[in-house]
Amino acid sequence: MKTLVILISGRGSNLLSLLDAKLPGRIAAVISNRPEATGLAYAHERGIATRVLDHGAYPDRAGFDAALGDEIERHGGSSGRGPDLVLLAGFMRILSDDFVRRFSGRLLNIHPSLLPAFPGLKTHAQALAAGVRIHGCTVHFVTPALDSGPIVVQAAVPVQSADTVESLGERVLLEEHRIYPQAARWFLEGRLILNPEGRVELLGEGPPGPSLLAPVSA
Ligand code: GRF
Repeated sequence: MKTLVILISGRGSNLLSLLDAKLPGRIAAVISNRPEATGLAYAHERGIATRVLDHGAYPDRAGFDAALGDEIERHGGSSGRGPDLVLLAGFMRILSDDFVRRFSGRLLNIHPSLLPAFPGLKTHAQALAAGVRIHGCTVHFVTPALDSGPIVVQAAVPVQSADTVESLGERVLLEEHRIYPQAARWFLEGRLILNPEGRVELLGEGPPGPSLLAPVSA
């Protein structure tokens, strides 16, 4: 059975959706860079190992990222080089190129916009300020450039005229909770591949429902 490690920083609603999804893999650990992350309790309640690596305790990004990588690799998978899959679920740290390369092809992120629109933070405010009529969320492989890796799946959320950052964010979050477990499932089933050219391949059927998928399934 494949193993996965999930990284969080705070609330943990995406973590909860992954825990509840009964994924075809073993969640070996949940790691937070913040001791106060409420999401840690969700893992704890389910008997899943939790670890805290407080980034503030490290002198620089390289030191933290190296320690984080070592901790992740302790939770091994069948490959002998750590878990098969690492999920960033609201992990609010920019990761160094070295870290990203270390987990290349097995590192996914959920981002609350339809990338490449609105990378970075405050994505719902960005979307409202830009006046877009369609917003949403994206699961992508992580590459060194922030929020720019190959797209796995996206879900579209229409913007309503009365929307606030909060109301729009709530509807986007519901879609995040749908597409992130879906993408993780594909990966764990061996159907989701980042090929040597850096393109996403999905073997078999695409997603049910109003998601937008890249690429078209094989
Ligand atoms: C989510 O909107 C996620 O897309 C973004 O950070 C937020 C984390 O929320 N990267 P939660 O901790 O999963 O509730």
